[in-house]
Amino acid sequence: MIEIADLTKRYGSFTAVDSVSLTVEQGQFTVLLGPSGSGKTTVLRMINRMVEPTSGRVLLNGVDTATMRPESLRRTMGYVIQNTGLFPNMTIRRNVATVPRLLGWDRRRIEERVSEMLDLVGLDPDTYASKYPHQLSGGEAQRVGVARALAADPPVLLMDEPFGAVDPLTRERLQLEMKRLHAKLRKTIVFVTHDIDEAVLLADRIALLREGHLEQYAAPEKLWIEPASEFVKGFFGENLGLRIMARHCLSSVPFKPLDPSVSCAAAPHVEDSVTLKEALAELVGAKATKLIVCHEGAPRGVVDFETLVKALGDGSAPA
Ligand SMILES: Nc1ncnc2c1ncn2[C@@H]1O[C@H](COP(=O)(O)OP(=O)(O)OP(=O)(O)O)[C@@H](O)[C@H]1O
Ligand SMILES: [Mg+2]
Repeated sequence: MIEIADLTKRYGSFTAVDSVSLTVEQGQFTVLLGPSGSGKTTVLRMINRMVEPTSGRVLLNGVDTATMRPESLRRTMGYVIQNTGLFPNMTIRRNVATVPRLLGWDRRRIEERVSEMLDLVGLDPDTYASKYPHQLSGGEAQRVGVARALAADPPVLLMDEPFGAVDPLTRERLQLEMKRLHAKLRKTIVFVTHDIDEAVLLADRIALLREGHLEQYAAPEKLWIEPASEFVKGFFGENLGLRIMARHCLSSVPFKPLDPSVSCAAAPHVEDSVTLKEALAELVGAKATKLIVCHEGAPRGVVDFETLVKALGDGSAPA
């Protein structure tokens, strides 16, 4: 758990971060979101003490990080940045092995861990381990960045616009992989972005910053239903409901009952593994008023526009 209390950073008379307080629970995915210059990177870097606060505190599992050695602190926190920061003169194997080597792991354990991490991020170790960073695509390099950050199994992962420099399609794929990784590993993650779609898709909680102030810290559904200010409402805009629909799976919705004689092939249909947003797109695309929901080809129920909208209704639809 990370507790940030009254955290402030001043540069001369300029206040970059102004008395920010928030708690990131164990295993929670928190996104720091806000316009350029709002203080996101500064908050993130105060968590691992790459930037020292002017005042305020950061507690890691109840221990004030100011009392810890910065190097030891950083080994408990994987750090991923845009353009990865991979060492260009080292192979992917050596890059991923960086922290385990610092920790003095033996060679066999390191080798096994490197393979395991590359597999985890979807890169075949036999193909990639001996390559150099310049031989990778942007998306592959970002995956290696994530593998390196996870190599020593740190409980916390700090990520600063990790997918900022890749093309939109790759970016979307990396976001979905990140969501899957978080569900699997349950690391405590603090992730910086200024991309609203990315934030809403990934976050358990979003901290919206504005000129160094924390405007609101809440789940995306809560930001939609109860924005704390006009700024929050305006920042997320009209599309927030639609973006939230991309967070939820159709299988979480109570379907309407189905006439047992209906088959999936008979009418417009969707698999129950799609998101609410995809189901809505399907409905509109098929110019239909309802869709049959199928599970591995077998009909399970019916959804219509009303069901989809009601599923979001009070913002409590399960993720
Ligand atoms: N070392 C520094 N000296 C002086 N001012 C700084 C320093 N680092 C950051 N700032 C200022 O503090 C403010 C917050 O910077 P920060 O990098 O945290 O913003 P950000 O929200 O991460 O922005 P971006 O989305 O552009 O990355 C900015 O106005 C920046 O110019
Ligand atoms: Mg930044």
